[in-house]
Amino acid sequence: MIKPFAVAVAFGFAAWSGTGAVQAAGPSPDKGPPLWAWGFTSPDDGVRPAAPAPATPPDNVKEHKIPGSKFSFTQVQVSNRYAPADWFPEDHPLMPDIVAHGRESANPQIYACGLCHMPNGKGRPENANVTGLTYEYFMQQLKDFKNGKRQTSDKRKTNTDLMTGFAKAMTDAEMETAARYFTSIPSTPWVKVIESATAPKTHARGGVFLTLTGPEAGTEPLGQRIVETPISAEDFEVLRHPRSGFIAYVPIGSIKKGEALVRTGAGKTTACTVCHGVDLKGLGPVPTLAGRSPSYLARQLYDMQRGNRAGAWSPLMAPVIANLTNDDLLTATAYLASLEP
Ligand code: HEC
Ligand code: HEC
Repeated sequence: MIKPFAVAVAFGFAAWSGTGAVQAAGPSPDKGPPLWAWGFTSPDDGVRPAAPAPATPPDNVKEHKIPGSKFSFTQVQVSNRYAPADWFPEDHPLMPDIVAHGRESANPQIYACGLCHMPNGKGRPENANVTGLTYEYFMQQLKDFKNGKRQTSDKRKTNTDLMTGFAKAMTDAEMETAARYFTSIPSTPWVKVIESATAPKTHARGGVFLTLTGPEAGTEPLGQRIVETPISAEDFEVLRHPRSGFIAYVPIGSIKKGEALVRTGAGKTTACTVCHGVDLKGLGPVPTLAGRSPSYLARQLYDMQRGNRAGAWSPLMAPVIANLTNDDLLTATAYLASLEP
């Protein structure tokens, strides 16, 4: 596995020297992170209001069911940090303890990886899809989190800090076990991309846009943003349904623009295919981008551009993204998300 990466590194440095003139153009003029990628609707004003108490505490009486699953769970069971619901054990390999239960006795406590990334690894826009990655890449990311090298550009996003805490508390053996588990799962489609002038009306909660239902439901102009939302807010919030995916509404024309940027560099950067592979499904240990959450991908690009994600391998990406605007991040990720994983 070392060899393809060395090739990518060589390509990287060639590309680096090749884009010198473009880099002189300076950093992008955007004022702040693209809010749609973080699941917020207004810029961070530094004020941290106390989290409002949930209207109804999670219920531990009503048994929920999902068609096709032989199990039933209450909402408390669904979101148990140390034993989240596993609706379809037949969909994934046997979970090791760290994935199924985390380690409550650790300091800080390690939640079950399956809680946020789901037992099948498909994850959610506010965390990450961890399927289809290579063992080397996965391990490197855990080390980068552990070393404080993966920070978020919007400090309101507190689950990135949780992820850092888990990586700090994990033993090497736990990292290796989790990496072996998730990297054995190939990625399959999880987000459907639709070009549209409008999007359903949503509200932002927990870093995700949820479609409004009932009298508040409707559509609104999309504008220059991506709205990535669960196919069903109920499946997402109440059930953590592991077979119910996401829809990303993207501006009309953005996929084609993104394709040009990703495949040719569009005169402002290196083609992404050089390192991520012609099919954008990864090359050697360089991660796959095809069919992944556009919100997740755009956050990573912005975090790397601002130096908040600065892991051992991030220098390869630094010159590539130096001159990209938030609009470029939107079109590139609209295209990448639209690809078959
Ligand atoms: C010179 C090689 C190279 C090129 C060209 C390149 N990448 Fe990367 N990319 C990498 C490497 C290496 C990583 C892993 C970085 C790390 O571990 O911090 C990465 C990581 C990423 C990630 C984070 C993925 C994740 O799972 O978190 C995204 C998103 C990404 N690249 C998008 C792009 C886009 C879009 C382009 C084209 C505009 C591009 N890359 C071009 C080498 C490259
Ligand atoms: C509380 C929710 C949560 C739990 C539980 C969790 N993670 Fe994460 N994880 C995240 C978030 C959030 C990110 C992305 C951070 C960002 O976008 O800034 C992430 C990202 C990752 C990535 C990077 C993926 C990539 O493509 O670069 C890996 C690897 C990962 N997590 C592994 C794990 C493992 C292993 C466990 C179990 C020990 C775990 N996570 C538990 C929230 C969580």
